[in-house]
Amino acid sequence: MRARQDPVLTLHEEPAEAEVVSHRLMLRAGFIKKLAGGVYSFLPMGVRALRKIEGIVREEMSRAGALEVLLPALQPSDLWERTGRWDKYGKELFRLSDRHDRPFALGPTHEEVVTDLISQTVHSYRQLPVLIYQIQTKFRDEIRPRFGLLRGREFVMKDAYSFSADEDDARRIYGIMQESYARIFRRIGLDSRMVEADSGLIGGNLSHEFMILAASGEDTVLICEKCSWAANVEKEPDALACPKCGGPVSSKTAIEVGHVFYLGHKYSVPMEAAFLDKEGKEIPFYMGCYGIGVSRLLAAALEQSHDEQGMVWPPAIAPFRVSVLTLGPGMADRPEVQEAIRTLEDLWGEDVYIDDRDLRPGIKFQDADLRGFPYQVILGERNVAQGQAEIKIRRSGERLIVTLDSLAIALSDLYESDTQD
Ligand SMILES: Nc1ncnc2c1ncn2[C@@H]1O[C@H](COP(=O)(O)OP(=O)(O)OP(=O)(O)O)[C@@H](O)[C@H]1O
Ligand SMILES: [Mg+2]
Ligand SMILES: [Zn+2]
Repeated sequence: MRARQDPVLTLHEEPAEAEVVSHRLMLRAGFIKKLAGGVYSFLPMGVRALRKIEGIVREEMSRAGALEVLLPALQPSDLWERTGRWDKYGKELFRLSDRHDRPFALGPTHEEVVTDLISQTVHSYRQLPVLIYQIQTKFRDEIRPRFGLLRGREFVMKDAYSFSADEDDARRIYGIMQESYARIFRRIGLDSRMVEADSGLIGGNLSHEFMILAASGEDTVLICEKCSWAANVEKEPDALACPKCGGPVSSKTAIEVGHVFYLGHKYSVPMEAAFLDKEGKEIPFYMGCYGIGVSRLLAAALEQSHDEQGMVWPPAIAPFRVSVLTLGPGMADRPEVQEAIRTLEDLWGEDVYIDDRDLRPGIKFQDADLRGFPYQVILGERNVAQGQAEIKIRRSGERLIVTLDSLAIALSDLYESDTQD
């Protein structure tokens, strides 16, 4: 992508309403734009980062054996009445009616829809287990939508659901999803923690949240300083010491980016969703559900990774891996510069951003730092005349000089060592 074709201009001003750094940076750098409270448009840069996260989530869901589906956002009220949630969900549920005055909801989550689907399609133990997921827009009329993508009223979630023949198998899948989540956050480049979570009124007794430690987090977690134990303070409100080892605990604020839940019969019993076991006996499905806040992750990544100059994208989810800065009039049109850009595009295709605008170098450096792509390739008069380019690594600020011929190799080596699978 070329900056000359980029319709979104960098704002270069502090958006007054933004209270947290990720929100401020995403507005300033033209990643998102507000439409209404908690409702945002994703602009080209924002969409690219979102798609990167979705890509990693899809790969890992598939590795875990989950199949992708896409369920309706528009859901008839009678489904919700069957579980009692039409009343219990309260004002957070967006409600509407069709032209015949039939009530509907815009899905905040999909347990009802998915349980209904499976009860109509899976009838025998031979078809189990079932593990499916979707990446979809959710709607929740939050009391306090705020912090940009961290708490929206319309947001992108990955939600997965499992259906097993017995509790052991449901717990086995729960374990697979825990591992999958840890892997997803590691691949994205985030430092996440799994904490014990409050299962509230849900009945099951097994629930974990995945947290990103950040000052702006709305959750509080207790972390043992001696062992690996950690819990949401909602689960252990009175813990002064670690229940596992007795060690001291410290409390930290955190952003919840994922939640896994053993549900058991909570939805299958009221919805009469059952299968026939070997003996021909009807057994309700043993269920689990597993969510990841995909659009929230975009903001959480920035909360964890930024500096005074702006965004510092983890390489695996950066909207572009590299920005090429041509300095000085006519530089972008030089044959050796065009050749260098072509080899980068051969290497990374769409992931190459070219700032070919006729602007002062200072402004182009500032924009590149603000948008925080992992590597900058700086093509200035003196270096190019000597067949060289400068690479700046955004995170460390480190700079190296390489020949134009070895540019692509140098960048792919950097990327390899900066990401993990
Ligand atoms: N309003 C929101 N905006 C963006 N992401 C959200 C929002 N609500 C939930 N999520 C994300 O979706 C995931 C799964 O949803 P879940 O119902 O478990 O969230 P939740 O417990 O309501 O979260 P929270 O306590 O933050 O409201 C959460 O872990 C979170 O990452
Ligand atoms: Mg909530
Ligand atoms: Zn401990």
